[in-house]
Amino acid sequence: MKGHQLLKQRLKAPLAEHEKILLPRGWQILGDLVLVNIPTKIVHLKHEIGDALLDLYPRCKSALWDKGVRGTLRTPEIEVIAGSGTRTVHKENHCKFALDASRVMFSAGNFAERVRMSTVGSNERVLDMFSGIGQLSIPIAVHAGPQSIVAIELNSVAYRYLRQNILLNNVNSIVRPILGNCANVAPSAQFDRVIMGHFDACDYLHKAVRCLAPEGIIHYHELVPEELMYKRPYARVEQAAQALAKSADLLSTRKVKDYAPGVAHVVVDARIS
Ligand SMILES: C[S@@+](CC[C@H](N)C(=O)[O-])C[C@H]1O[C@@H](n2cnc3c(N)ncnc32)[C@H](O)[C@@H]1O
Repeated sequence: MKGHQLLKQRLKAPLAEHEKILLPRGWQILGDLVLVNIPTKIVHLKHEIGDALLDLYPRCKSALWDKGVRGTLRTPEIEVIAGSGTRTVHKENHCKFALDASRVMFSAGNFAERVRMSTVGSNERVLDMFSGIGQLSIPIAVHAGPQSIVAIELNSVAYRYLRQNILLNNVNSIVRPILGNCANVAPSAQFDRVIMGHFDACDYLHKAVRCLAPEGIIHYHELVPEELMYKRPYARVEQAAQALAKSADLLSTRKVKDYAPGVAHVVVDARIS
């Protein structure tokens, strides 16, 4: 049975036909939390939906209304709609992520990208310019055997969880966390691979190119209208490389996820030399 049918079955309140149509069709489970997006027209049902989700997932301690993330620091807006608590330890791909879903973001939709990144970087010096709580640094450190990873994070709350996750995954001899703005604190000319997992990454492309030693691979993320996804992100990487008298060879362009109607979250891998 599909998710929303199960949810409909568990709801105790009688629903009008137009309400049934608007019920959430998906949600994400992070550790022992269920996060769900609730359409504004059925907000009056939020507690019933939360209770039904907890009924559906008895091992979860709370259901959270996920209202999206805001600003450069990608701060989540969350409301507890059933149960209690927003902190958890999420486990996936043999990695552990301690997090507080009300204070730091963790995108279920990026799962495939996190798994893909766990296969790159063997014996390399890696720079993660926007590390968050270690969503990409931790899988690389746990699985790929890099020489070292420098993980930079601007948000002090996310940085605190980054440090915790480095210890939790036993990779403190590999990952060095730095609190600060990557534009100012990223060391120059010493990395084989640079990860740019933020939608503002285009503003930092020159910095990323300067951090390579002197050649290497950049993983550049961008939000892009679908019709431009095979053009614009790579063109931006190429422009940044050329501005610094280098060239960019496209290795791949991948859609990480659908972000909004007609808008894709895309990652470009390019070799800069
Ligand atoms: C969207 S999260 C992504 C985390 C991870 N890279 C991923 O792909 O799942 C981006 C993180 O970059 C941080 N950030 C934003 N601007 C930054 C900057 N200039 N320097 C370092 N970190 C920054 C934010 O605080 C946020 O935690």
